[in-house]
Amino acid sequence: MLFLRQDGPSASLSDDLRGEPWLLLVVDDEEQVHAVTQLSLDGVSFQGRPVHLLSAYSAAEASAILQAEPDVALILLDVVMETENAGLSLVRWIRRDLGNRDIRIILRTAHPGHAPERRVILDYDINDYKTKTELTSDRLFSAVVAGLRSYEQVRTISRLLADVKVAQRATVFALADLAEHRDTDTGAHIRRVHDLSVAVAERLRSRGHFAAEIDDRFIEGIGLASTLHDVGKVSVPDHVLRKPGSLDAREWEVMKAHTISGGAILARSASLLGGQGYLAMGAEIARHHHERFDGSGYPDGLSGESIPLSARITAVADVYDALISARPYKDAWEPERALAVMRGEGGRHFDPLVLDAFLDIMANRL
Ligand SMILES: [Fe+2]
Repeated sequence: MLFLRQDGPSASLSDDLRGEPWLLLVVDDEEQVHAVTQLSLDGVSFQGRPVHLLSAYSAAEASAILQAEPDVALILLDVVMETENAGLSLVRWIRRDLGNRDIRIILRTAHPGHAPERRVILDYDINDYKTKTELTSDRLFSAVVAGLRSYEQVRTISRLLADVKVAQRATVFALADLAEHRDTDTGAHIRRVHDLSVAVAERLRSRGHFAAEIDDRFIEGIGLASTLHDVGKVSVPDHVLRKPGSLDAREWEVMKAHTISGGAILARSASLLGGQGYLAMGAEIARHHHERFDGSGYPDGLSGESIPLSARITAVADVYDALISARPYKDAWEPERALAVMRGEGGRHFDPLVLDAFLDIMANRL
């Protein structure tokens, strides 16, 4: 008798059997093991998904099934089949050759002498080790549920990791574009714009403004995104960017184009993320942070709420920081002077609600 049936509550964790089945592969050369496993796990579901058993009677058969069916979550694996180590060889093949690190493997052996637990669990990437004699129906159930839970967590992490890799690639793409040129901004300006943009967005949210737009994602995104507002300056030549005096008409056109090139650089990167995330927000900020609420800005002459909110917020932070900083063409202004000038720009340069939130923050800081 391989499994001792034990009385107790129904094995099913959920009555909802409508979901996609968990695929569980039983690999064993004894027909009786398949039959008893089927009996023990009959009707079992986990998180509303039924467990569906696949059967293989040798390691070779198992490898064929695994190649055809990549979504197997869990394997109940015998050790001694066509060879004394057929099961262990299969483990190595799954991890190394098939490259499947996610699938959970429970070794089930009737001959622990052939595969001692301590050696096997250290040397092979398996997730559990059971002798057949210890596996009652309930213990099998517990091992399977624990295995499925672990599989789901591993899959979640794998998916997140894949997302991070894509994001990383997109970021490196943007930085590579940047590195081909050079940046004249100081890191301190970038950090202050970051902090101010986040603070203004949070203040707007706490006041209940733009509730449809400002969610956690927005707050999270605008910090990073606002730091990229002047990425396009890498394409502005030194003699324009660093000119101490005022720019002539042609030079001014070149300078204004930093919005267009910055927006394009970031839009290209954002497209790697499917147009989502902080790079997409960065692209709209880079393009529109010099628009003015009354429509007199550049590059598109947008007005009012047709200017992206992220850009309206960054505009306030960027202008304030530019005013209080020394630039080749101007000295640093005292904060009070900068605020006095900006205060008169509600509805002209700036979105009045955004400006008001900003002034409120500054009133508490100065
Ligand atoms: Fe700019």
